[in-house]
Parts: sequence; structure tokens; C-alpha cells
Amino acid sequence: MMSSNQQGEIAKGLEGVVAAETKIGFVDGINGRLVYRGYNIEDLVEKSNFEEVAYLLIYGKLPTLTDFKQFKDNLNLKAGISEDLFSIISKTTQKSHPMSALRTAVSYQGAFDPLSSNSDLKSQEKMGLSIMGSFPSIVAAINRSIKGEGRVVSKSTDYVEKFLEESFGRKPSDFEKEVMRVALIIHADHGMNASTFASMVTISTLSDMYSAVTSAVSSLKGPLHGGANEKSLEMLEKIGSPKNAEKVISEMLEKKEKIMGFGHRVYKVYDPRAKILKVYAKQLAEKTGHKDLFDTAEEVEKVMVSKLGSKGIFPNVDFYSGIVYKSLGFDSKIFTPIFALARISGWFARSFEYLHDNRLFRPRSLYKGEVGPLKYLPINERKQ
Ligand SMILES: CC(C)(COP(=O)(O)OP(=O)(O)OC[C@H]1O[C@@H](n2cnc3c(N)ncnc32)[C@H](O)[C@@H]1OP(=O)(O)O)[C@@H](O)C(=O)NCCC(=O)NCCS
Repeated sequence: MMSSNQQGEIAKGLEGVVAAETKIGFVDGINGRLVYRGYNIEDLVEKSNFEEVAYLLIYGKLPTLTDFKQFKDNLNLKAGISEDLFSIISKTTQKSHPMSALRTAVSYQGAFDPLSSNSDLKSQEKMGLSIMGSFPSIVAAINRSIKGEGRVVSKSTDYVEKFLEESFGRKPSDFEKEVMRVALIIHADHGMNASTFASMVTISTLSDMYSAVTSAVSSLKGPLHGGANEKSLEMLEKIGSPKNAEKVISEMLEKKEKIMGFGHRVYKVYDPRAKILKVYAKQLAEKTGHKDLFDTAEEVEKVMVSKLGSKGIFPNVDFYSGIVYKSLGFDSKIFTPIFALARISGWFARSFEYLHDNRLFRPRSLYKGEVGPLKYLPINERKQ
């Protein structure tokens, strides 16, 4: 007889399953809107800064001046990271993927924070703030280590400025800061994606915030999640010129290949984040001698929309972000850690929200194996 554990519908990849309630963010795939706590991202991009958006996601409202000052003090951006951690990041980056270095860095910090034995809300909040405050220095350290460069310490208490200054070893221009501010705001949160879900699963066991973020980083590392912008840029560089776009894209589509940076599980219209980034990609590419790359992208977009727009396939955020980061001077290896630099706010906000009404995540799988009972044979009686 079948037990109840062998019955049930499978929602592969949990597609369409609603597993939690949230007030943090809403991805409106039909109307092409991304909303953080009721605010359109376009409005936040125009008027806000990254720390304020992070506060909004975590605490549910825009901060007052006093709230904001307290939040900045709690992030303690000035502190940066220790020399020890820089050296570990440096060693890890030489041997492995930059996301492995990021994962190790978060885990290392957790190992030295006595709060990580606690699971009460106050401790989780403190850990979240301290992880987020260390991210600009950690990601900058990974960026420098990739290029074999030494440590730079910036005393800036601005999230974006500190990251850029420690990455490049010079004061960033106002335009560079603006572009990075926008990129971080639009990547801050995006529904219950794989890395956010991973952080929520971990925190739901009443583990600590370092462990939750380590899980999230591990999950963002995969090319199906964090790596599409790198692949999209690679493809544009291979296409090389707008005049090759039609031919190359048609051939790829004939071979049933996926064009990186197009299509989305939720958006069936133009991704609002791609619309915002495209404007900056154009300005930056023109300023930094990458105009041909942008023109190629625009031509690829034209070809793709004419061929697949009717199926709801449009550019997603990853299509233009690679051009933006490359034009800012970043190597493609650092694109996914930059994604994490923004998404740490969403991971923290959503794990923290979930903890307020926690229930352990525990789906089941449908057993398709032998039910038995089979007769156990000692090892020397089994057939070779
Ligand atoms: C993101 C993605 C996984 C969404 O997939 P999805 O919701 O399952 O979309 P579907 O597979 O239902 O797409 C519908 C149709 O469009 C096609 N399609 C979707 N994205 C495509 C792409 N990037 N290039 C070419 N064709 C694409 C599908 O092959 C399918 O064709 P069919 O009707 O002939 O079977 C998919 O669009 C993709 O792989 N994109 C490229 C990777 C990428 O940019 N990822 C970053 C996302 S932010």
C-alpha cells in the first residue's frame, strides 16, 4: 500500500509555490514594475541612496535623519575589514572563484563573532548590520586580489564611495558614484529568488545571520543565478560589431541556444531594471571608448525583440549591467560579487522579516525508489 509520503504533485524547482508572505518587495512581471515597500525603483533611483534603500527594505519605512544616522553608525562602514581577512581573501582569490572568496570571507567573520551562537532577533539584526557594513571592503578586496593588487583602506563612510575607492585605489568621480549607486539600488531585492530563498531556509532553522548569508552567497555563485551578465558581455564581445548582430543571433536561435541577458521567469515585458541601466550603459560606454559594444548590444536587442518580443522575451537586467561594470573598469570576474554587494540588503531584510514569524522550511520529495522490504545480505554474500 502507498503511504502518504509517496503521493502528491511535484512543483519542480518549487515553481509557482507560494511559501511565505512578505511586505518587502513586489516584482510585477505583467506591468514591468519593481516595487520596494510601495516605492517604485525609478523613484528611489532618482532620489535616494543605497543605505537609505537598505534601511527601507530592512525596517519597512524611509528613515528619519536620526534613524539614518543611527543606521550608518550601526553599519560602521569606517571599520572596513582586518588585515587578516584581506590576506585570506587574497589567498582564496588566487586559488578559486571570486564568489568562493566572498563565501569564505563571510564565514570567517562569523567564526569570530560571539553573537553567532545566538538566534534572538536583536543578535540577528546586529550580525546582519555588521555583515552588510563589511561588504564594500570585502568585495573591493576581492577586486584588488583578482588583479594581484594590495590593500587600500578608505575612511569613507559612504557605501558606494568606500567600495569604489578601495577597489580602484583613488577617489571615484561623481559620475562613477552615481552609476554604482543606481546599480546597487536596482539589484537590492528581487522577490524570493534562489539566493534569497537559501538565506531564508538557513535562518528558518534558527541558525545565525552569517550562516544565512553564506548560504545565499553559495547559491548566487551558480551561473543560472548570478552569472548571466558575465556571459552576456562575453557574447557581445564575440559578436564584435552591430553589423554582425543579425547573423550571429539568427544562427544561435536556429541552434536553439539561449541568448544571455534576455527573458525572465517573472517579467514578460521589458525588465524595468534593464531600462534604467541602458541609459547609463550608453553614457558610460560613450565616455570610456566602448561605444561599439553598446551599439552592438542595441542591435542585438533590436533583432531579439523583433524575433521573440511577441513571446515576452526582452532584455533583462543582466544584458546592460555587464557593459556598465566593464565601462567602470571592472573585470567580468567581479560582476557576481558586485551583485552580492547590493543583494546583501535583500538577503538580510527577507531573512530578518521571516524570523519574525518563523516556520522551519521543510518540503518533501516524492519517493520513487524501491519500497521493499528487501532482504539484507552481508557484504561477502553480495554478487560482484
Ligand atoms: C531567464 C529564463 C531562464 C526564463 O526562462 P522561462 O521563463 O522558463 O522562459 P521560457 O523558457 O518559458 O521561454 C519561452 C520561450 O522563449 C524562449 N526563450 C526564453 N529566453 C530565451 C533567450 N534568452 N534566448 C532565446 N530564447 C529564449 C524559450 O526557448 C521558449 O521558446 P519556445 O516557446 O520555443 O519553447 C530564460 O529566459 C533564460 O535562460 N534566459 C537567458 C539567461 C539569463 O539572461 N538569465 C538571467 C535572468 S535575470
